[in-house]
Amino acid sequence: MAKLVAPHGGNDLRALLAPPTIRAEQLVHAQGLTKVPLSSREVSDLLMLAMGAYTPLEGFMGAAAWRRVSLEMRLENDVFWPIPITLSCTAALAQTIDPGTEIALVDGDSGEILATMAVTEKYTPDRALECTQIYRTTDAAHPGVQKVLAQGEVNLAGPVTCLSEGEYPDKYPELYLRPTQSRALFRKNGWMRVAAFQTRNPMQRAHEHLVKIAIEVTDGVFIHQVLGKLKPGDIPAPVRTQAIQAMIDNYFVPGTVVQAGYPIEMRYAGPREALLHALIRQNFGCSHLIVGRDHAGVGNYYGPFDAQDIFDTLWEDALQTQALKIDITFYCKKCYGMATGKTCPHGDAQRIHISGTEQRAMLAKGAPIPPEFSRPEVVEILRDYYQHLDESA
Ligand code: ADX
Repeated sequence: MAKLVAPHGGNDLRALLAPPTIRAEQLVHAQGLTKVPLSSREVSDLLMLAMGAYTPLEGFMGAAAWRRVSLEMRLENDVFWPIPITLSCTAALAQTIDPGTEIALVDGDSGEILATMAVTEKYTPDRALECTQIYRTTDAAHPGVQKVLAQGEVNLAGPVTCLSEGEYPDKYPELYLRPTQSRALFRKNGWMRVAAFQTRNPMQRAHEHLVKIAIEVTDGVFIHQVLGKLKPGDIPAPVRTQAIQAMIDNYFVPGTVVQAGYPIEMRYAGPREALLHALIRQNFGCSHLIVGRDHAGVGNYYGPFDAQDIFDTLWEDALQTQALKIDITFYCKKCYGMATGKTCPHGDAQRIHISGTEQRAMLAKGAPIPPEFSRPEVVEILRDYYQHLDESA
């Protein structure tokens, strides 16, 4: 029987969530340990470790892995990895923690104990080097760089045992699929070639077109959205989910897509993050990742196709999951339909483009959104959200 892509690193999935039978006892034990508060990004990474999405990692990275990943995109054992997964704390707190001891990892916002970690090492990373390598900038206005600069100066490393998945499983009972579950679902659907569509936005027609191109050349598409923290102004996950569902129900052939979500927090690292997105999707069982224009980018830090080009710099066998590269998509008035830069010979004047900011302003004022840009069923949900947001402002 045909198979799904193997988990990254060549072995089984490594989900670090402890079995339910030992969680209660471990939580009592964790109460007595030194508590290290995690930022929302660190919590999101921990949850990715818990569900097995970061296979084959066993915890937060030490100095050698941090350096090699930053400079060469490899773990110490040569396995491909594009972005450091690290945990930081203040120098004062680090002074109270010695390698060889165990600590409790606590959600910095809610105070919930999420995991224990056996500390193997503490080190001070060169944050400017990390930003230059990963984000291609040290500009503090970049939202990803901002988080690196705001983190504590010392990194703590070691294997983790996760004890909770926070609020996600209850908040998103159907959307929150772990890699074992997405793989089981793909097998049940008889899918082997599966494309992931990474998104943090409600889908307008350009997104719909990307997914439909992928459906033509694979067995099905995994519409996989970010449930972790986003930039201010981005649409909250529950509204986005509803808008995506309206599009699926009205414009897709039943059985061609699955909608799901995962707990990552965006870093907006453009090309390096596109690689991480592909690696994660390999763990979820996807053979392809759709990479369009300015994937995971922000502002003008990256060129529109940098996130596609970086896949060509990888060595053979770095990743099994491949980029499905698609040019800029839009509605063309002269073609009378959706097209891409590769299929439409007409110029910009014929192409309908509305930026996210423009769309937000139009929705909030009740201005019509052209059906060539966004499906009316989707517009209705977004309009309702923006108008109520306006009332509560
Ligand atoms: S993100 O994670 O890449 O920031 P976003 O929702 O903005 O998520 O985009 C989802 C995917 O659609 C990405 O692969 C992005 O490159 C692609 N994309 C979005 N809009 C377009 C477009 N008009 N043309 C081509 N690709 C697009």
